[in-house]
Amino acid sequence: MTETTTDPARAAAILAQGGIVALPTETVYGLAARWDRAVGIERIFAAKGRPSDNPLIVHLAQLRDLDPIALRIPPAAATLLSHFAPGPLTVTLPRRPEVSDRITAGLPTVAVRIPAAPLFQEVLRIVGVPLVAPSANRSGRPSPTTWQAVLEELHGKIDAVLVGPPCAIGIESTVVDCCSSPPRLLRPGGITLEQLCEVLPGIVPATAAGAAAATCTAAGAAEQSPLEHLPSPGMRHRHYAPSVRVELVDDPHPLTPSPLAMYLGITPHGKPAEWGMHCCYSDIASYAHALFAAFREGEQRGFRTIYCQRVPKTGLGRGLMDRLERAALGSAAKDSC
Ligand code: TXA
Ligand code: MG
Repeated sequence: MTETTTDPARAAAILAQGGIVALPTETVYGLAARWDRAVGIERIFAAKGRPSDNPLIVHLAQLRDLDPIALRIPPAAATLLSHFAPGPLTVTLPRRPEVSDRITAGLPTVAVRIPAAPLFQEVLRIVGVPLVAPSANRSGRPSPTTWQAVLEELHGKIDAVLVGPPCAIGIESTVVDCCSSPPRLLRPGGITLEQLCEVLPGIVPATAAGAAAATCTAAGAAEQSPLEHLPSPGMRHRHYAPSVRVELVDDPHPLTPSPLAMYLGITPHGKPAEWGMHCCYSDIASYAHALFAAFREGEQRGFRTIYCQRVPKTGLGRGLMDRLERAALGSAAKDSC
């Protein structure tokens, strides 16, 4: 059985004993376990059906908790953490040998993040040790942004869910590889590339397709260069895909509204009543905030297609487009098999 609790001390007690508990962060809900308990970590992989080559992020209450985890903090990581921690930023650091291969998938690096969400922070402080926490969804599916969505994904497979508010940002943290020179953007997310480049010019974004990288210069210009291989194991796998087909559109106007389809975008299209569901967002932040919950609603209401308007790949739009493109790819792959 999966317990629901509103008490961070209860969630912390289950974690302290080696259990697995879903917790709210400012990005998405995470499924947490102590970093130093193999059994909890195994249960996370089992509950999610997560491929073992996809490493986990270690979550800390504060910078000094890094001591048992990282060998050192490269200057790029120190700069980024000093500006964006606590918050939706994950950095990779050289790992200490005490960090298990199960967490790092055998990589020489470990990904760490200091979440800002008060409930997660409170649990970290009570447990007193870092917690690993992937998103609390079954592997390949949209991340949960509410506690109810966690239960839809993992009920019966996890010990508890800590009931908190819907996640403020709605897409995952930005992941930066700080062990390469120059540092590489592995996953766009809650902190934008523009924000990163303001404090650390020269970060190289690695695209989801792994086909090209653009160098972000101090002036903010981008130049293309090929990438030899996928820089993050997370890029190999299907992600964020609901069971309903996701189709991306630039201009919604050629679309014929349908009661069996859902439309998500910034530009309104047709009469909302002609669609199964019509979601028109005021800006990219609200689109990103609502996206995964909208995918779930599309599944629950049995729609055939979710049409999503593309957005410019700047600011938070880069992270939103990454999720949209992978969701479309994942749902198309399911259609063909
Ligand atoms: O916002 C978030 O980051 C959420 C909340 C719960 O904190 N967590 C999350 O975890 O999104 P997960 O496991 O769903 O995604 C972690 C990403 C994956 O793409 C994984 O491959 C990458 O981080 N990652 C983890 N460790 C890594 C490492 N050592 N090197 C490169 N990428 C790594
Ligand atoms: Mg995930």
